[in-house]
Amino acid sequence: MSGDWSADTWAVIAGRPAHQTGAPVSPPIELTSTYLSSGPLGATDIGVYGRSNNATWRALEDAIGVLEHGTALCFASGMAAGAALFDLIEPGGRLVMADSAYNTMLALARQLAAAGRISLSTVDIADTDAVLAALPGADWLILESPTNPLLQVADLVTLAEGAAASGVRIGVDNTFATPLLQNPLDLGASVVLHSATKYLSGHSDVVAGALVTRDEELLNRLQSYRTMQGSILGPMEAWLVLRGLRTLSVRLERQQATAGVLAERLNAHPAIDRVRYPGLVDDPGHDLARRQMRGFGAMLALEPVGGIDAAERLVHGVQLWVPATSLGGVESLLERRRRIASEPETVPDSLVRLSVGLEDVEDLWADLDQALAQV
Ligand SMILES: Cc1ncc(COP(=O)(O)O)c(C=O)c1O
Repeated sequence: MSGDWSADTWAVIAGRPAHQTGAPVSPPIELTSTYLSSGPLGATDIGVYGRSNNATWRALEDAIGVLEHGTALCFASGMAAGAALFDLIEPGGRLVMADSAYNTMLALARQLAAAGRISLSTVDIADTDAVLAALPGADWLILESPTNPLLQVADLVTLAEGAAASGVRIGVDNTFATPLLQNPLDLGASVVLHSATKYLSGHSDVVAGALVTRDEELLNRLQSYRTMQGSILGPMEAWLVLRGLRTLSVRLERQQATAGVLAERLNAHPAIDRVRYPGLVDDPGHDLARRQMRGFGAMLALEPVGGIDAAERLVHGVQLWVPATSLGGVESLLERRRRIASEPETVPDSLVRLSVGLEDVEDLWADLDQALAQV
């Protein structure tokens, strides 16, 4: 019976203590740096020290693993998870990534390539033929879908087939979609990455990351990397992510519905040049997103008429939306991405990324509309 429960239900129930009289319903925060010893250590004894084991991590990992259909490991941040993922590439291996990938992931890959640790090819991830052409001779393809901040959609099934034919592993950053809208392991990915800082925790109050895989060898390597590098999540942070995860389904449902309404209205607004949202029927990623996702998410991007100045006036003309980086929280945020020096040049100068929160849709629209009138 439990196999039939939906992801919405699993988000609520996974990672809870076993049903026993007197057991806590919510997993406690296990604050300890060390564990009582019971003699010589076996190869599988991980529960000896707080850098290799923690019950609150395990509760969170159970929940993320169930939702992503694999085994999860939590990390100190999405970037700590990203660094662990890059570490799976053998020295001298070749990595293919999107030329508009999340800026810090791309910067780290470029740093590893500059140091001679890996070689790096970048491609337009929405150009499936170009990605397929880059795969022979590569070791890993690491991508986001939808991408941050261009909201491009990668053809995960075709790329997974091409990657399998070329012996290339795929890592998918599923931060924007969340496991409720897309499960990349089911589509052929070897590893899924989350910045749990975003939708999984959902309240802009914690920095955390996770990797999920079904491959035991990769899992062991990632776990050993995390223990040795010490890129572990604090128990308090793990608990905060788990607490946030309980409401992911209702948050996302509302945020996504609001994003759809705002995208349609912005698309028809004379002060807007272009709206990027896979839910719009004229969006280049729409058909693919319909096929491989269970919804279009709550992130969108726009380019106002009038370039950078107009974008800056919009970002600073709002009163309810918060001009700040990050995404996936209950409060609506917006940001002109190229204000960040490391943002790839493939991102238009005037592009404003919007993370739609839980405020009333008409209030969010009224605020955007009044700010656009000043643009
Ligand atoms: C798509 C994506 N992946 C990874 C990261 C890195 O996550 P963190 O900030 O938790 O280190 C981010 C952060 O914005 C992101 O947006």
